[in-house]
Amino acid sequence: QRNAKVAVMGASGGIGQPLALLLKQSPLVTELSLYDIVNTPGVAADLSHIDSHSKVKGYTGPEQLKDSLRGAQVVIIPAGVPRKPGMTRDDLFNTNASIVRDLAVAIAEVAPKAFVAIISNPVNSTVPIASEVFQKAGVYDPNRIFGVTTLDIVRSNAFIGEAKGLDPQKVSVPVIGGHSGITIIPVISQAKPSVSFPDDQLKALTERIQEAGTEVVKAKAGTGSATLSMAYAGARFGFSLIKALNGEQNIVECAYVRSNVTEAKYFSTPVLLGKNGVEKNLGLGKLSGYEEKLLQAAIPELKKNIQKGEDFVNKK
Ligand code: APR
Repeated sequence: QRNAKVAVMGASGGIGQPLALLLKQSPLVTELSLYDIVNTPGVAADLSHIDSHSKVKGYTGPEQLKDSLRGAQVVIIPAGVPRKPGMTRDDLFNTNASIVRDLAVAIAEVAPKAFVAIISNPVNSTVPIASEVFQKAGVYDPNRIFGVTTLDIVRSNAFIGEAKGLDPQKVSVPVIGGHSGITIIPVISQAKPSVSFPDDQLKALTERIQEAGTEVVKAKAGTGSATLSMAYAGARFGFSLIKALNGEQNIVECAYVRSNVTEAKYFSTPVLLGKNGVEKNLGLGKLSGYEEKLLQAAIPELKKNIQKGEDFVNKK
């Protein structure tokens, strides 16, 4: 049995709790470390009664932050405030930027080699923030810091499966770019199995995928954003990271990573994962004319989001 210690930062939240549950029930995880500023003793006690083999421990408060990270190979971060109706992911910047920065400072010190998977929004900016923090600490490895965009892929698979009467588990749609609004680029022309839609339907489907988070924010009417589907997607991404660490071959996920595929310094594409994180960036592949236009529209917005994250860390 291989060892995989996973730390969840923000483990008591709407995403954190179901994410911890999914991790707890997986044989891939041997130790689960749950950190939050509130309620982790309860969450950890509750989960520890599940008869799977992993050990669960809760940590709370700034004084236990570093202990929560010791020995972690994978760190998943859903800490932060979620959206309310009318808010964009960028509106979360002011609160979540400092949360991610402070967590990254601790990870850079205690678990600099861990794979870090960031869920806290705006992901387009929080990944550059964590990367700048690691850089300043002298431990930056661009292959080990990931923005989790898996929910965009999961949604695309679900919506296309539904539209075409296919089992969504057998549908696989790459989604590239970033993780908000127009920066989300579903590459439906590369869907497996291959599917096609009339132009108006393709546009509607693309826009639904781009705004799917907002669909949930509206439906939840002020009580939060996507938590259950995000937890599912975060767990899927976390499992892929652990499988890669375990030496499994051909583990490919889309993720928002440091990139030179486009003009944007961080960009999501399918990446091949290995023991050291990103082993190979698989790039854009062939895009349709429509997808090329989406890409052109996304780049300026992405660059702005990235700059904002970098400026936040580098301000005096
Ligand atoms: N360190 C650790 N945990 C923190 C910190 C911090 N500095 N600040 C807040 N938290 C915790 C909160 O105590 C809470 O338990 O993060 C958790 C967030 O949970 P929710 O408020 O329920 O938010 P959630 O829906 O889980 O979304 C969290 O993920 O998808 C993104 O946009 C979403 O940025 C938001 C984040």
